Order: sequence, then structure tokens, then C-alpha cells
Amino acid sequence: MLGNISPADFMRDYWQRKPLLIRQAIPGFKPSLSIADIKDLVKREEVESRLIWHDDEGWHMKTGPFNRLPGARKPDWTILAQNVDAHDDNMAALMHQFRFISDARLDDVMISIATEGGGVGPHFDSYDVFLLQAAGQRRWRISTQEDLSLVPGLPLKILANFQAEQEFVLEPGDMLYLPPHVAHDGVAQGDCMTISIGFRAPTTGALARGLLDAAGDQIMARLGDDSGLYANPPLPGPVLADAYKDRGAVATTHPAQLPDGLIDAALAAVQRVAFTPELAERFLGQWLTEPSRAAWFEPGDHSLDLADGVPSQGRFVLDRCTRMMYRGTSLFINGEVAPLQAEDWLKRLADERGLTASEVNRAQPADKALDMLTAWLDDGWLQYLPD
Ligand code: SIN
Ligand code: CO
Repeated sequence: MLGNISPADFMRDYWQRKPLLIRQAIPGFKPSLSIADIKDLVKREEVESRLIWHDDEGWHMKTGPFNRLPGARKPDWTILAQNVDAHDDNMAALMHQFRFISDARLDDVMISIATEGGGVGPHFDSYDVFLLQAAGQRRWRISTQEDLSLVPGLPLKILANFQAEQEFVLEPGDMLYLPPHVAHDGVAQGDCMTISIGFRAPTTGALARGLLDAAGDQIMARLGDDSGLYANPPLPGPVLADAYKDRGAVATTHPAQLPDGLIDAALAAVQRVAFTPELAERFLGQWLTEPSRAAWFEPGDHSLDLADGVPSQGRFVLDRCTRMMYRGTSLFINGEVAPLQAEDWLKRLADERGLTASEVNRAQPADKALDMLTAWLDDGWLQYLPD
């Protein structure tokens, strides 16, 4: 998919560094959804979409759902549907072809359709993106310019001074990789469909905040919080339930003044919170496997209880909306810490997003693991395909 470049070379030379145009990344590419399918998709309440058009008055944007769209012969409009991988198995499979990059970074598939002249205008994104041309032609102009100032007062981000440095017309199957902050402008040449495989990257602020929240949870657990929310499995960490002591404090004539001793005690207390890799792992594992806003799990039919025996045929596959990650012996799925250890076969399930029934049988899973898999089947997180 990267032409004659290996994933290893791509990651070393291009990822987060410079744009790359790959002609016929997917030769003879035919998208699983047509322009008409996207027009149907954006009618649905649960699909996030935006209509963008430009005219003499400038740029305009409306958010979906859309029961009616501008006429197919009217130029200069585009409609973008977000999180399409959550709604379509084939689009999820397309996104998963990019799993030479960690699941922690993969975000979603966005699809745009446009008429002649349609596009979202010259802009930059804060995240990496692969732009795969799916139908028709699009003329991309790109620039590594430093001036990223925006036109003020618009409903969308439009660069005030876009100076194109390179220009290419993409045909179906061609793909353009752009690192964050590379300015770009894609204009449809006739009816056009573009698939964006987008990535996510937490900000430093979000990472710090998340880790602090996890530390807060750890403290609550240590204080004997019995809500059960934080206790499964129990968090490692210091005992913090001992109360502040001020034996030897002298009589005060300023009772409203904050005691220095409490300031010192608060600072000393926080020093005892352990910011360990395990804590970061717990926070990141839960956070990064949180299903996307668009995720929907169809509950299973409850006909299969693996405790009664794992079928000898068929295979188990993760639902397209399931997010599953692991580190060391910890296993995370759809925002939860799985209540058992990440044995090799479960790591394989996460990496491959599926296992054959015979692989599961060979692993000789404990009853607890079979109960867990059964619960995932019931919740629609995992599916059994008899073949
Ligand atoms: C598009 O598909 O028109 C927009 C993609 C982008 O520029 O980020
Ligand atoms: Co963009």
C-alpha cells in the first residue's frame, strides 16, 4: 500500500516528517461504498457529517444529518462523513491495513464526496492523515509554509496566505500522506470521493491530566473507597489514609492563617503518589480503548456459552468497533481493564483482531477466560463466525 516503500522505511523517512505521494497505492481500488451510499449515510442521525460549500459570499458550513443535499449538478460543495469505519466493516478493514502504526494512534476513516470545485479550502490539520482517492479526480496543492494564520470569523479553518509548493492530481487508488501542519487544499475535478485515514495524538496536557486523574483514582482506592470503581484489579501504591498530625503546634493568634505545616503536608503527600509505568499503562489502556463516539455494539444472541465448550470450527473476530490493547500482563478492551492476565493467545486476539476456534482450543483457556469471552460475545464486542 506504500508503493515500493516498506512500512519500516516509511516510518523512518516520512512518518511525521514529510509528505509522500504514492501512485496506485491500491491498484484498481474500488471503494466498498459509492457516492450514493455516502449520500444515504449522511441522512442517518448517528453519522456525524458536515456540508461545506463556497460561493461569492465565501465559505459556509452546516452539520448533518442531511435529508436533502445540493443538486448533483451544482458545483462547489462537499460533504464529509466522520467515523465511517464504525458504520461499515469494509471501511474498518481498510483502516486496519494501516496497522503498521499502533492502534494507539489510529483514529478513524472520514469520507468526503464532492462535485466539481468542491473542497474544504486551504487548511492544515494537527494530525497525520492518509488521503486515498476513491473515485473521480482531486487536485491537491500542498505547502510546508510556516505561516499558518487563519482567516478570522469563518465557520471553518481557512489559511489566510496559502502558497502552494507542489501540486498533484490524484486518480482512484492514489494516496497522499501528510504529516501534521502541512498546508493542503484538495479541489474536486468532477464528481469525487476521497477517503481520509486519520490519526490521533494526545496533547501533553491530556496526558498529564489523564495520569493525574489515574493517580487520583489510586488515592481514592488507597483511602478505602469502597465504591468498587477503582478496586478491580487493586492498584498498587502507598497507604495514604494516615491523617495530618500537628502535635507540638503552638497556640495561634491568627486562627484564619493557613498553617505552613499543612502546606508541607500536602506537598509531601503528593510525593508519595507513585507515578509508575503501571499507573500510566492503566490510564492509557483504558483511555485509548474507549470506543469512539460513533461506536455501536449489536448485542449477541446469547446462544453460545463457551464454558459449555469452545466450538471446534469457525473463528472469533473482534467487532469493528472494539478497541483492544495490552501491555505486559495487562489487557484492556473498550475502556475497561480486563479482569484477567493478557496471556499470549489474548495478545494475539488483540493484534490479529481474530482467532480461529482451534487456536482458542489449543490455548486451553481457564474457565474465567471462557466466561469473559462469552460476556464479550453477549455484548457484541466479539463475534463468532461458524464459517
Ligand atoms: C477532503 O476529503 O476533502 C478533506 C480532507 C482534508 O483535507 O483533510
Ligand atoms: Co485536511
